[in-house]
Amino acid sequence: MYNEIALDQININADPPTEEPARQHYFMAKCRKWTVAFAEKNGRLPQACVVNFGCQMNARDSEKLSGILECAGFMLTENENADFVIFNTCTVRDNANQKVYGRLGELNGYKRRNPHMKIALCGCMTQEAAVVQKLRKSYPFVDLVFGTHNLFKFAELLWTTLSAEKGMVIDIWEDTDQIVEDLPVERKYPFKSGINIMFGCNNFCSYCIVPYVRGRERSRKPEDILEEIRRLVADGVVEVMLLGQNVNSYGKNLARPVSFAWLLKEVEKIEGLQRIRFMTSHPKDLSKELIQVMKTSKKICRHLHLPLQSGSTRILEQMNRRYTKEQYLELAMHIRREIPDIAITTDIIVGFPGETAADLEETIDVVRQVKFDNAFTFIYSKRTGTPAAAMENQVPPAQVKEGFDRLLKVVQDTAREQVARSAGKILEVLVEEVNESDPSLVTGRLSNNTVVHLPGDASLIGKLVNVSLEECHGFYYLGRICKDLQ
Ligand code: 5AD
Ligand code: SF4
Repeated sequence: MYNEIALDQININADPPTEEPARQHYFMAKCRKWTVAFAEKNGRLPQACVVNFGCQMNARDSEKLSGILECAGFMLTENENADFVIFNTCTVRDNANQKVYGRLGELNGYKRRNPHMKIALCGCMTQEAAVVQKLRKSYPFVDLVFGTHNLFKFAELLWTTLSAEKGMVIDIWEDTDQIVEDLPVERKYPFKSGINIMFGCNNFCSYCIVPYVRGRERSRKPEDILEEIRRLVADGVVEVMLLGQNVNSYGKNLARPVSFAWLLKEVEKIEGLQRIRFMTSHPKDLSKELIQVMKTSKKICRHLHLPLQSGSTRILEQMNRRYTKEQYLELAMHIRREIPDIAITTDIIVGFPGETAADLEETIDVVRQVKFDNAFTFIYSKRTGTPAAAMENQVPPAQVKEGFDRLLKVVQDTAREQVARSAGKILEVLVEEVNESDPSLVTGRLSNNTVVHLPGDASLIGKLVNVSLEECHGFYYLGRICKDLQ
């Protein structure tokens, strides 16, 4: 099977191979020997906990970390009081960093009671030199720190950490052009999966730290992506989410360039695959060809996440977004005309340096015109090293808060109105889980990403069912399974 690597056939007494992924398989085998010895000594398997912070890309990376730990013989747990704990961090806004520091303090408490515990940190935060400095100085109990570019080396770093007596193992790379395929992955859901189609970002929006911590844009080869999806489908996956910071520029830098629209058409051909999602789209790169492909597709979900960031052309220019308010509006309206049942969601930042009440009005105007089905609204967070951090006209927090609340109200009103559009319809729901607060219900999503709760049990998980959408409760529906499609 996909995740099965014949570790017992690897000679771990020989020198490690130099090529990847064989080298990582070798270190997984070494770690496996360590976990077996641990189990013999302690009468139980060592436990490992992977904690994910941040976006879908991080969630996918966490599945890779889990896959490697499981292959190495660890038992995965959600309890942070484990033998090996790894935080996969996010640094897109400062509150994400603060959360990690707080949680590290809690881990230290566990480690005092279990001195053999190993603590690791990876992800976007660790790519910042100031963070590593702070860890060295104030968090010396952390055992392993590595970054986003060498995640594929995790098995090797894990071995170094397990076999080290003391001290922090730190391995941060500035950048990489390597894309290593064929490492194990432990999926959170058996029926749906994220797939990285590209890494990094070249856009350098002036507020954003991502290009600095994730490096330059690199696309995976289409044949590797398609092969991965085929294997996932053979393993029971019915929904895929193609992941990248800017999927619309997928394939531009390949030796044989292809477009994202072309890739989608190829993915659509995979038999057994039922739903295709993707994120994130940059408005400046979203092609008319892509809209046509979405329009005619039977599998691409009726959902487009199209970050606006600001509705003021002046602020957009300062943000280096490379589109105007009018261009965004024209694009969104074109999409709504071509695909009327589509849900458009967005990200908006409030309080970018120099933003005035008039600028915010422009943003609110776009929200009213486009009628976003959902919008993630963020308070601007100053990220050291980005051009916006050096801008002088930072907005006072009280003004930001006032604008944020005003925007949020409009966003919620329009979103509620949009979600209600589906009331009374019979639509397909992919059931994802048993409802957390009411076990007589299951929860799933419409093609347009709206959440639906319906009576049912765990046997429905991973199935596509036709649901009559009976009651709209603001942002979600209560429905009932129905045999015929309208
Ligand atoms: N401050 C606030 N929000 C930010 N985002 C990215 N950088 C920042 C920042 N410095 C938001 C953008 C992006 C989303 C993932 O995070 O809206 O689309
Ligand atoms: Fe950040 Fe802009 Fe790249 Fe998105 S497109 S990751 S906001 S730099």
